[in-house]
Amino acid sequence: MGKDPQLEETLSKVQKYLECFHLPLEKLQEISARLKKDFNRGLGKHTHHRAAVKMLPTFVTATPDGTEKGDFLALDLGGTNFRVLHIRVNEDEQRVMKSQNCAIPQEMMVGTGEQLFDHIAACLGEFVNSQDLKGQTLPLGFTFSFPCEQKEIDKSILIRWTKGFNCSGVEGEDVVKLLKEAIHRRGDYDIGSVAMVNDTVGTMMSCGYKDQSCEIGMIIGTGTNACYMEELKNVKRVEGMEVKEGENRRMCINTEWGGFGDDGALKDILTEYDEEVDRTSINPGIHTFEKMISGMYLGEIVRLVLVKLTQEKLLFNGETSKALLTPGTFETRFISEIEKEDKGVENTKKILADLGLTSNAVDLHIVRLICDTISSRSARLCAAALATIVNRIRVNRKLDHLKTTVGVDGAVYRKHPNFSEELQDMVRRLAPQCDINFIVSEDGSGKGAAMVTAVLCKKKFKRLNEFNCA
Ligand code: GLC
Repeated sequence: MGKDPQLEETLSKVQKYLECFHLPLEKLQEISARLKKDFNRGLGKHTHHRAAVKMLPTFVTATPDGTEKGDFLALDLGGTNFRVLHIRVNEDEQRVMKSQNCAIPQEMMVGTGEQLFDHIAACLGEFVNSQDLKGQTLPLGFTFSFPCEQKEIDKSILIRWTKGFNCSGVEGEDVVKLLKEAIHRRGDYDIGSVAMVNDTVGTMMSCGYKDQSCEIGMIIGTGTNACYMEELKNVKRVEGMEVKEGENRRMCINTEWGGFGDDGALKDILTEYDEEVDRTSINPGIHTFEKMISGMYLGEIVRLVLVKLTQEKLLFNGETSKALLTPGTFETRFISEIEKEDKGVENTKKILADLGLTSNAVDLHIVRLICDTISSRSARLCAAALATIVNRIRVNRKLDHLKTTVGVDGAVYRKHPNFSEELQDMVRRLAPQCDINFIVSEDGSGKGAAMVTAVLCKKKFKRLNEFNCA
């Protein structure tokens, strides 16, 4: 391709439409600086109530040191599946003894909270029975991947649902209490103490077991978010945890960076497609940044661009299809399939044909370009946000140079052919004084919840909450 003048003209028109997604280095630096301000707002005593980036205290004050041990149950709720795990932690490993997936039907994601928690308690009960753990009241790590105002490690109020969930009667309530009540309603088994964690925290903690310099957890999957170890003296919003001069105590902060831009801070980079995705979502106005980045939305952004370019007669001979015009039909996983080095063209043909579209070689090229533009914007935005965190940690510790590790999970990061590479390259350019190592976490959120519980169970942390590790 290349020399044909008509083709050149089409491609240059397409490029014009895609320009709104391009974020040069300087723009990313600007975005990172805005997020830096929002971090301070979220941590501030008098500003956090209205902050778009919530910076939630997690009450996790120590990362693992490799000496944790014991048997734990873990629950992992945050996507369309819900997982129950039995995890054994000892000197050299965190082993999943057994795990079970339970589907959460779509109608339950938007039903009543009681139905949801009864379902969770039923799945957990079935698991405990099948594993012969019934008499054991094991401590439980509960990964609940939504923004929660944590009052204690086992008291956590849901601020609002994100991603596809919208169950009634849960926002403003203590999620641990709702879980315990559902278990008591059944009355056929019991659990020990509960530690609540966000999936970012779980990811950081599970990687931290292997690499003790892991002090950041990041998720780029259905949703996106990150946590990191902040100096306790900067966490002004937590009462009763004053730090003496010279003390280096830390607490993990769940940034909830998905909410960045909810106050209009990203207005200049939002495109008409982002606005449409937001308008048609179940939570308009909420999690603006997440809607530009994560797996729940990327496919839909691509679909809207495809529709636009087809209507402008730059694709598919100007002919859309019923499927293409239907929201949600272009799945995010298609982006990864289309961008694959070897099988990309073949995959694109099949995906477009399944959507009822007739394509020629130029169409295939343009569709790939669109996917690449959207996934690349996502990787660059994540890089800007991650750079804000690593730069902050470096400045917090008054270091010229920081060496740190990020534990990462999520399908977008794992499955896309060059997302991780692009993100890493960009973060290194945005945080040149930081040497960052990335570890992909395996079963991170489940194992990590067990790790949080295991750290608490070590004697020296017992005072924190009289954590019962029977
Ligand atoms: C959403 C949730 C957040 C979670 C993230 C990744 O942004 O609000 O708590 O960590 O998705 O699953």
